[in-house]
Amino acid sequence: MEAIVYLNGRFLSEEEAVVPVTTRGFFGGDGVYEVTRTFRHKLFRLDDHLTRLCRSLAYIRLDCGLTRDEIKAATEETLARNLARLDDGGDFALWHVITRGEHAGGRAAPPVVAMFCVDMDFDRYAEAYLEGLRLVTPGVRRTPPQSIDPKGKVTSRMNQVQAALEVGRVDPGAVPLLLDTNGNIAETNTGNFFFLSEGRLHTSKGRNVLAGVTRSVVLELAEDLGIDIVEGDFTAYDVYNADEAFVSGTSPSIVPVCRLNGAAIGDSGNLPGPDTLRLMQAFSEAAGVDYVAQAMASLGGNRSRDLAERWDQRNRESGRAESSGS
Ligand SMILES: Cc1ncc(COP(=O)(O)O)c(C=O)c1O
Repeated sequence: MEAIVYLNGRFLSEEEAVVPVTTRGFFGGDGVYEVTRTFRHKLFRLDDHLTRLCRSLAYIRLDCGLTRDEIKAATEETLARNLARLDDGGDFALWHVITRGEHAGGRAAPPVVAMFCVDMDFDRYAEAYLEGLRLVTPGVRRTPPQSIDPKGKVTSRMNQVQAALEVGRVDPGAVPLLLDTNGNIAETNTGNFFFLSEGRLHTSKGRNVLAGVTRSVVLELAEDLGIDIVEGDFTAYDVYNADEAFVSGTSPSIVPVCRLNGAAIGDSGNLPGPDTLRLMQAFSEAAGVDYVAQAMASLGGNRSRDLAERWDQRNRESGRAESSGS
C-alpha cells in the first residue's frame, strides 16, 4: 500500500505531494516541524507535540491558516490513512512540516502544511539500548537564544548538521553533545541529555535546549519514581564523574550513554545503569510497549535474539536487585 501525505488540505500519494522549488521552506530553513511517534499504532503525547508546534509557529510569526484543532484532526486522519501499511510490530514517526509559503523574489504564496508517516528506524538504536551511545563534544556550539531560540523546533538544522559532521570525522558512529556558548552542556543533535550523580537526575536548564517532549516525560517519570531532579549548568567535568547518563528523544525514547569524549561513564560495561533502566522501564509502561524489545525484534535473525536475551537478563537482574532491597 502506498504512503499517503497530507498537503495543504489534500491527501495525496507521495508522488503527487510536491512543493515548488521556489518556496522559502526549500532554500531558507524558514519553517517549523514536529516528529510524533506511535506506540502500538497510537500517537504518543500528540497534545504536547501540537503545543510545541503552535509555540514554534508563534515564534516564527507564521499563521499556517489552520487552528490547532484542525491540525489535530488532519494529523489523526493522516495516521488513519496510513495505518494499513504497518505490520503488528511496526510503528510510525509522524512528521508535521510547516513552512512560510512565500517564494524566491518575495512573491506571496500560502504556507506549506505537510504531514506524513515514516516507518520507525528501530535499527538505529537497537544495540545502543544495551551498549550505550558514544558522545563527543564538538567545537561548534548550540545556537544561543540570542540568535535562534533553541526551544522552538525549526527546520533550519545547520547547527546540528555542523556538529554531526565534525564529530563524525573524529569518531564515526558517535553522537555530538553540544555545549552552549558558555561551555555548559546543552543537548545532542537529536536529543536532550541527562546524567545521574549520587542518585540525582541532572539535566541542562531549558534555556539552551529544545523543549523536548520526551524530556518532559522523563522529568515526570523521575518525579513519580522519587528521583530528585537538578536542572542546571553542567560541564563535561560533571559528566566524567557521573554514575550514569542517557539521551531522550522521540525516536529512541531513552537510550543510555557509555562514553563522553572517550571517557567511560559509570559501569559502562553493564548498561543501562540501574536508574536509567528504571526510567526506561517506566517509559515503556507509559507508552504501553517495551520499546527496547520492539526495536530489538525489528532487527531479525540471531542478532535480534542475542540482544533480546541480554535485555531480558538485564531486566531480571534489576528485578532481583529490587526484591533483595539493594
Ligand atoms: C536538537 C534536539 N533536541 C532534543 C530533541 C528531543 O525532543 P523530543 O523529545 O521532543 O523528540 C530533538 C528531537 O528531534 C532535537 O532535534
